[in-house]
Amino acid sequence: MDDASYQSVKEEIKRSADIVDLVGNFVQLRKAGKNYVGLCPFHSEKEPSFTVNRERQMFHCFGCKKGGDIFDFWMAYHHCTFPEALKDLAERYHVPLPQRPLTAQEKRKRERIGAIFSANEAALRYFHETLLRDSVSHHAREYLKSRGIGPEITKEFLLGFAPDRWEGLVEYLERENIELGIAESAGLIILKNKRRYYDRFRKRIIFPIFDLKGRPIGFGGRVLEGSHPKYLNTPETPVFQKGKVLYGLQASYTHMRSTRRALIVEGYMDFLAMWSFGIRNSAATLGTALTASQVRRLKGYVDEIIVIFDSDEAGRKAALRGLPIFVNEGIQARAVLLPEGHDPDTFLRAEGTERFLDLVSAAPVLLEFYLEQSLSGKGQSIEQKVGVVRELLPSICELKDPMLRAAFVQKVAEDTGIRENVVWSELGKVAKGQSKQVYPQGGNSKLNSGTVRKFTRDVHLLNLLIYHPEVARELVDCRWQLLMEDENTSKVISAFFDKLKREGGFEPGQLIDELPDETAKNELRESLMQSSFYDEAGARIAVSEIKRKIDELEIISSIRQAKERGDMEELNALLKLRAKLYQGMV
Ligand code: CTP
Ligand code: MN
Repeated sequence: MDDASYQSVKEEIKRSADIVDLVGNFVQLRKAGKNYVGLCPFHSEKEPSFTVNRERQMFHCFGCKKGGDIFDFWMAYHHCTFPEALKDLAERYHVPLPQRPLTAQEKRKRERIGAIFSANEAALRYFHETLLRDSVSHHAREYLKSRGIGPEITKEFLLGFAPDRWEGLVEYLERENIELGIAESAGLIILKNKRRYYDRFRKRIIFPIFDLKGRPIGFGGRVLEGSHPKYLNTPETPVFQKGKVLYGLQASYTHMRSTRRALIVEGYMDFLAMWSFGIRNSAATLGTALTASQVRRLKGYVDEIIVIFDSDEAGRKAALRGLPIFVNEGIQARAVLLPEGHDPDTFLRAEGTERFLDLVSAAPVLLEFYLEQSLSGKGQSIEQKVGVVRELLPSICELKDPMLRAAFVQKVAEDTGIRENVVWSELGKVAKGQSKQVYPQGGNSKLNSGTVRKFTRDVHLLNLLIYHPEVARELVDCRWQLLMEDENTSKVISAFFDKLKREGGFEPGQLIDELPDETAKNELRESLMQSSFYDEAGARIAVSEIKRKIDELEIISSIRQAKERGDMEELNALLKLRAKLYQGMV
């Protein structure tokens, strides 16, 4: 659809709809003067500040400042995009939506997906009915009961049972006229010897997994006894991708929205236990760490995600992997570690809701959690601390926001007692290893003169002085002269440092008039034409690398002198110092 037809459909829907009626379907409104007010569906509040105005066909919340027209409401309320809102509301108000006809291929795809859902729905009925009514399920019902799952939970989450038969589901699907080829693509049945189909799930409790519209997208199956594998899930299908699924979300997302918080657990049973203990703002990954796509979805409902780990080492690792995902998605994440041997299910049953919620409210933010877990051992050696930092660096590298990166580096340095510039310089190495640009080429390297400029260290230093003087001035008392390759660059840098010392910050262009000769002036002009090579964090990395290089060159030159003098004691000390420097500990 082009822009113009979008606009005209939008206008037509607006003419047919009334915002007070529409919003009134989702929010209890009462009249207050010329407005209608209610409790805001977008943040939690006790006094209504959510206001709808019929005259203007607008809503606005005085609490959280969300507002707009019916489309804005629909998008925010249903967490959908504008085209989706347009489609939903067009249907609702019977406004025809001009539509490009589907290509044959798109049509086939859509039909296949519809058929897969139908197959899943049939399987859902089969499993659920079997659990509720079939005598073969006696054991399964007892098992669920023994684990505290009663009939209400069973019905609410449509739990099921796959009996100990090879073709129970195959036969059921046939009776229901489900094409077996489709059921195979839905991951429900498996083709054997290219001839016969058999059931994927046998002798297992079934946990159906739903999308937000409540359609079954896949299943998880648990054995009753201790056989292996304990769980079996639907394989990847056109409607089921493990990394995108969150078990229970179709039931819990409204609770997440009202509490602005999501508690993430690993298992089906954990989710169901939490639900039955009255904790309803949770969802389960299927045993894996949260992915960016899951986090992005949760972000639509909550301001904070709390991940609950059962085991310390796995939790520590998962916290580490999750760090950049949460930070880059801009959402706060905290972590709870349950006592040894517990998962949320067993903990709740042993200790109750209150103790559980105590742990949740005391949960540290993810970085803190990781550092606590990693540094908690007694008598940590410097090597161990360096190890912790090394483990953390790739995650810090993933952070997109330079300010946050800087804050993380500072925090890590403080907590480990390793000097901040060493952390920066290690970070620089990791970044290089990942071929992230630590020394980015400053855009167009062709200069006015037509020559191609070499980006030597002195050129980098000058660029840093121009664009990040507050960071580069740290080098003022170092022997930066050791790095100089070009006489003119050296003159400019020298003048730069002098002026910085004398006057503090200044506009770099002012320096031109103070330079001794024309070639030095040209040098500065050229550098001023170049854009910044670094962002803020990159500048810090670069400066610490330069510092390190200077230290190294200084030691090397002292080593040479000590050798010439034959001063073995001094030489030994210097060699040790150099070794330390290479280990990143100075
Ligand atoms: N899981 C899986 N496949 C496995 C093992 C686990 O998909 N072979 C997923 C399941 O979603 C499971 C979750 O990882 O719920 C957590 O696994 P685990 O802690 O082993 O099981 P619990 O959820 O504790 O299950 P239970 O309490 O029934 O033993
Ligand atoms: Mn468990």
